[in-house]
Formats: sequence, structure tokens, C-alpha cells
Amino acid sequence: MSCFFKLFTITGLVAFISGSAAELNIYSHRHYDSDAILFKQFSEETGIKINVVKGSADQLIQRLISEGSNSPADVLLTVDAGRLHRAKVAGILQPVQSDKLLRRVPSPLRDPEGYWYGMTVRSRVIVYSKDRVKPSELSTYEALARPEWKGRIVVRSSGNIYNQSLLASIMVANGEEKALNWAKAIRKNMARSPRGSDRDQARAVAAGLADLAIMNTYYLGILSNSSVEADRKVAASLGVFFPNQDGRGAHINVSGAGVTVSSKNKKEAIQFLEFLTSESSQETFTKVNYEYPVVIGNNQHGLLKNWGPFKADTLNLSILGAKNAEAVRLFDRAGWE
Ligand SMILES: [Fe+2]
Repeated sequence: MSCFFKLFTITGLVAFISGSAAELNIYSHRHYDSDAILFKQFSEETGIKINVVKGSADQLIQRLISEGSNSPADVLLTVDAGRLHRAKVAGILQPVQSDKLLRRVPSPLRDPEGYWYGMTVRSRVIVYSKDRVKPSELSTYEALARPEWKGRIVVRSSGNIYNQSLLASIMVANGEEKALNWAKAIRKNMARSPRGSDRDQARAVAAGLADLAIMNTYYLGILSNSSVEADRKVAASLGVFFPNQDGRGAHINVSGAGVTVSSKNKKEAIQFLEFLTSESSQETFTKVNYEYPVVIGNNQHGLLKNWGPFKADTLNLSILGAKNAEAVRLFDRAGWE
């Protein structure tokens, strides 16, 4: 008898007793330490083993399309509402109803029909050199188009979905014509042609190549806590400014998840999404990856607290997905590579 039990791992035993599905297959574009911690916790609590397939969001979406109903995937986990919307339109997600998810995830941060739910929030903000820029000189995304910023801005390429979603939000707020002119003016104000990652923009500002960057908050958190001293120095020289606080609020986006249309374990997949939105998981995302919880203002880690409270744009993020193709076209017309 004792031999028999030795065959079980703890998680296997829990699964055996609870009669739950033994496995859940997650296709994930996220590559953060927080996720590995949470996957392990989920398995320990439920006995459900998690298998992760990693890839770029576009690869994973393509793979789900070609695998169709034969796909072993249960959950797609990715960043940016623009991509989540793309997955919904491609027909690879199914709608999910869950009281817990509806209660925990504010409506602008989830698909109106339940095809995907935001799991974490990030804001795309102005990160500036504390030496060369005073926060009093900053106000809105729109104000960065003024000639006084000529040669002082760095930001990554227009192929990046974070920028596409930001421009989509500006299109919704100001109309297409003004959004186009904004993109043209920002391109003119750039210190160099767009290249590199968000972290590279921070490094460029710290190195004196430019005075400010448009980038996502959590990358500054990652740099601040890096094991590389040079990166910690970069972060220490930079300040965070949340734009448009007197107006619509700073642009935010989510990383989020949806249950695949092929899922053979829908109940457990929903349980997994609910787990990720629990107070304890939200705190892990915040502490380990410096993202905001979906209920912004809750569970803020020290660093996020230092950045201060902010007003976020309440635009329903599914609109960013719907406007994505238009944003890409505007970037092309604006000459933003
Ligand atoms: Fe990112």
C-alpha cells in the first residue's frame, strides 16, 4: 500500500482525490518570473498540472488557428488588448461567464462578451531624465508634439503593439486627423529613428541621447530591481510621469487571458483565470513584475506606490483592438517606422 502511494506526487494525489482534470495547457506569450510562481501555486492548490507552451503572441495565435478544434490548448495568455481582440476575431477563443471574473475585472478591462479578461494592468507613460526635465514641463501625450521637444524623445517602432494601442486611444480621444498629426509631430521630435525595446528607450534617456521616452511602467520596475548595476543606475536617473491627468487619464492596457475554443477542460480553465485574478495572485504580479492589479489602487508594491496614484483612461480596451488596423495605417502615413 505504501508503495502505491509513493507513485503519486502530492499534486497527483490531490488531483486523484478531488477528481479534477490532471492537466491544463497554457499557450503563453508572457515570460515573467511572476507567472512561473503563480503556475506552481495553482498546481499545488488544485492538483491541476500546468503545461506551458511559450511563443510570440502572433505565433501562438497562428498556431491556435491552424490547430483548430484539435488544439490541446485550454488558455491563451498574452499581452495587449489589441492582440486579445485579434484572437477573439480569429475565432480561437470562447466566451466565458464567471461571477468572480465579472466582479473582479472592471468592465473596461475585459471583452464585453467575455472572450477575454484583463489579468494585469500596465500604463504607457512618459519616463523622463530627472536632470534635464522638470515634471512641471510635462502634461499630456498631445503636448509632446510641440516643437520644444524636437530631438528629445525616444520611443520604439510602430510595429510594436503597445504603440499601436496608444495611437488607437489617441484616435478615439481626438479623431483620426489629429492623431495622424500627432504621430507625424512625434516622429519629427524623435532623437533617433525608432528602434529597440522599451528598456532600451530608458537606457537611451539615461545615456543622454534623449530627454524622455514613451514606455510602459513595469519596465522601469524591472530595471530598478535588476541584478545588473548599470540598469539600476539607469532607473535611478529617471522619473515617471502619468500624462493627461486633467483629462481622460493615462493610457493603460492589460495583459489578459481567454479560454480557447478547443479547450477540453473549460471548468478548470475558468478556475485558472479566477485564480489569476484573486487578491493573492494580483499581489504577486505587482510585487514580482511591477504591473498594476486589475483593480488599480489595490495591493500596490512599494515601487508602484512611489510612482503615485494616477487617473487611468476608462476607454473600453476592446476598442483598441477594433481600431488597431487603422492605427497601423496612420503610423505608415506619419512615416513612423
Ligand atoms: Fe512588455
